[in-house]
Amino acid sequence: MLNANIVKNAIEILAYERTNYLKLHPRSIAFSAKANQHFLYGVPMHWMNDWGTPVPLFVQQAQGAHFSCADDIDYTDFCLGDTGAMFGHSPLPVAKAIAAQANSGYTTMLPSTLAPNVGEALAEHFGLPYWQLATTATDANRFVLRWARAVTGRQKLLVFDGCYHGTIDDTMVDMVISDDTMADAIEGKTANRASLLGQVYDLGLHTVTVPFNDAEAVERELAKGNIACVLTEPALTNCGMVLPKAGFIKILRDLTKKYGSLLVLDETHTISTGRGGWAKANHVTPDFLVIGKPIAGGLPASAYGFSTEMAARMKTAKDSAPSGHSGIGTTLSGNMMTLAAIHATLTEVATAEAYTHMLTMAEELERQLTASINSHKLPWNITRLGARLELQFCAETPKNAQEARDAQNETLESAIHLYLLNRGVLLTPFHNMMLVCPATNNADLNLLIRVFNDCLDALTA
Ligand SMILES: Cc1ncc(COP(=O)(O)O)c(C=O)c1O
Repeated sequence: MLNANIVKNAIEILAYERTNYLKLHPRSIAFSAKANQHFLYGVPMHWMNDWGTPVPLFVQQAQGAHFSCADDIDYTDFCLGDTGAMFGHSPLPVAKAIAAQANSGYTTMLPSTLAPNVGEALAEHFGLPYWQLATTATDANRFVLRWARAVTGRQKLLVFDGCYHGTIDDTMVDMVISDDTMADAIEGKTANRASLLGQVYDLGLHTVTVPFNDAEAVERELAKGNIACVLTEPALTNCGMVLPKAGFIKILRDLTKKYGSLLVLDETHTISTGRGGWAKANHVTPDFLVIGKPIAGGLPASAYGFSTEMAARMKTAKDSAPSGHSGIGTTLSGNMMTLAAIHATLTEVATAEAYTHMLTMAEELERQLTASINSHKLPWNITRLGARLELQFCAETPKNAQEARDAQNETLESAIHLYLLNRGVLLTPFHNMMLVCPATNNADLNLLIRVFNDCLDALTA
């Protein structure tokens, strides 16, 4: 429960900062007016209008840990494209690889001579022997689900309440707890996410949702013998941040094996853990691993890796199906430009040294943000997963999505975001995530910490 004085201050700060934002951004206002003539809500993708700024912030240029807006204001970027630019904007080796490829073709529908090296780099980086490419993490998840259902012959999917795996329909569900379902001694009922547009199917027919960190609920569902796979991030990163209890993901590994289901780990965000992601660092081998966002340095690219056993089962499923469309794959995925960018990112950008720097910086940021919170006597916490940090308005890291949701407050969140933005610091929208990249330096950290501290002064005044 948030202190009433803080909420009152947040409302005042928000009103003041909205006016301040409009004064600071006349050119973004002009771009917005022009873009409104031909783009829905004046933005290339409608959700770009949901950032909470009075008009969208139009970006002019981005490099390393910084970008500048149309009004020539410099920002230190802790959003980093919500992980797409986790290795910094325009990393030089990627820029060079793209430039080198630029006059040698972009897409042919054939495997290019770069392909074997990219496969080798993916296997070395993530520790799984076999790979396929897609263009977005959404698509990679969608394709993995299709494979999982094909190889197991089972229909159902198990995900965790509060999950996000992109706009794949099967996972756009929530666990709804009603008085009726409580009486069932099952945690909840799976229903289409209320905000989902244009979906006419009942997604709860084939997707089961249980609370994260609840091994008993998982086992109860797996024991029914109809779950093709458990799909999860190793830590939930899209409903705030929920870390796995010690051993929870290993328990998922054991339970999925016991009941003939597959384990799919979506490492799109948890690649922040360390080089190769969470599973590699924690010695868990999933059946499938999904990775997207930063693997081509910020160009659209994704991939999914799988075990030798899975590769054999996938071939059996494919070879025994009639010839024709499998429903897996898209025309432009695995194009030459993307292959060049993935190779440069994995071999020259996402290096052990880069991660050492990111993790050291993130640890320092965690320490200083926590000190600032404590000095203001606020019952809030910073949860960290490698280079990724989340501010949550509760004293302890939440154990599941419901606890994370209970700690959220939209007004307070918007006030903090806009206060920081108007002072040159960008956080990730829709929650309070901060990501550190290889180019983030001490001056960047100091700016965030100073402005955050000033913001807490204003909120607790
Ligand atoms: C864990 C996870 N998986 C998949 C996705 C989807 O990525 P994309 O929007 O690039 O398809 C996201 C996006 O935030 C994500 O957080």
